[in-house]
Amino acid sequence: MNALAATSRNFKQAAKLLGLDAKLERSLLIPFREIKVECTIPKDDGSLASFVGFRVQHDNARGPMKGGIRYHPEVDPDEVNALAQLMTWKTAVANIPYGGAKGGIGCDPGDLSISELERLTRVFTQKIHDLIGIHADVPAPDMGTNPQTMAWMLDEYSKFHGYSPAVVTGKPVDLGGSLGRDAATGRGVLFATEALLQECGKSISGQRFVIQGFGNVGSWAAHLINEAGGKVVAVSDVTGAIKNRNGLDIKELLKHSVGNRGIKGFRGGDALDPNSLLTEDCDVLIPAALGGVINRENANHIKAKFIIEAANHPTDPEADEILSKKGVLILPDIFANSGGVTVSYFEWVQNIQGFMWDEEKVNNELKTYMTKGFKDVKEMCKTHDCDLRMGAFTLGVNRVARATLLRGWEA
Ligand SMILES: NC(=O)c1ccc[n+]([C@@H]2O[C@H](COP(=O)([O-])OP(=O)(O)OC[C@H]3O[C@@H](n4cnc5c(N)ncnc54)[C@H](O)[C@@H]3O)[C@@H](O)[C@H]2O)c1
Repeated sequence: MNALAATSRNFKQAAKLLGLDAKLERSLLIPFREIKVECTIPKDDGSLASFVGFRVQHDNARGPMKGGIRYHPEVDPDEVNALAQLMTWKTAVANIPYGGAKGGIGCDPGDLSISELERLTRVFTQKIHDLIGIHADVPAPDMGTNPQTMAWMLDEYSKFHGYSPAVVTGKPVDLGGSLGRDAATGRGVLFATEALLQECGKSISGQRFVIQGFGNVGSWAAHLINEAGGKVVAVSDVTGAIKNRNGLDIKELLKHSVGNRGIKGFRGGDALDPNSLLTEDCDVLIPAALGGVINRENANHIKAKFIIEAANHPTDPEADEILSKKGVLILPDIFANSGGVTVSYFEWVQNIQGFMWDEEKVNNELKTYMTKGFKDVKEMCKTHDCDLRMGAFTLGVNRVARATLLRGWEA
């Protein structure tokens, strides 16, 4: 099932549980605006190359739209649409004053030089600068983009609109980025995991973790879980997979991965078939790479008791059903990976105030938001007698529906 169909199906199930009126349901689902632009750049060899860029602005009932920019060969309109919708429910679950958006460029960033990436980012920003803004739509990094990408976007946007650090988040700290933003999604995953395990009378310490993806989110999650006493027994990235039953040395793996642009060749474990990573024996599975990786083909073979969705929409609805019958508890993406957008919100607040917080304040505030978010999700599970995914969806959709009705926007 594609990402848009899966996300819309979860939304509709939540709308049914909430008893939403059909017209309101329809208006919540339809995006506010969909943008598609052609971005042509000169390559380093002098030839021209053309890429398609997207920005879907899904909803702004609760505040400016917010969401990442992804550079990946598989970026397509349906996926961006689904991810924008997920952002609307995610910012509402986190209870931060934003709506949802997502963007991306269909390209392989690994095939482009730094100067080609800079030109592509600047052309994309030129094409959308009138439609984003501090109080309209605030982009951030996502897969294939990073603080440097945000620095180029900020610089290009400022040529048209003047100094505007709050127009993007996830910036380098030297340009107004927040301390703690780099680690925020991984740290949020840690806090979310702690909350769920605590609810089940367990703690991170002593649990065995498997993590798919060793980029920003996966590597920070691995590092922080390891520090909290968890044993990371297997990890994969686009270069390969590695396992060690006694626990991988995450500090050494991080060093290796930075030096070798991936985990392949790490000597502190045994190489593993990346296709079998998700079904490795463990207590907690953390998908932190791509969408749709847990599906009806592998769900029956998953051995973890808990799945923490650090990636966006890693689990197909069909897999959800299979796993739920097996008694696996899934902490859904719209809560589990909301630490990133929450600290992005802190960054935006700091930029608007012109006042920088120290890292301890950022991390403490993040913990407060994640702990409250888990309590709110659980409350909805009780009210609607549903699983954690529907608890999170009903929480987010209900908050957006209330804002929509209060504004008088219902059709
Ligand atoms: N960065 C954030 O703040 C943030 C916030 C919320 C959600 N997310 C989601 O988390 C996921 C990861 O984002 P990121 O920022 O860490 O991206 P990233 O580009 O930093 O890292 C992605 C990682 O996934 C790996 N990967 C790619 N294809 C793979 C495959 N087929 N098998 C195994 N690993 C593979 C890459 O090698 C890399 O290690 C995405 O779904 C993203 O939407 C990110």
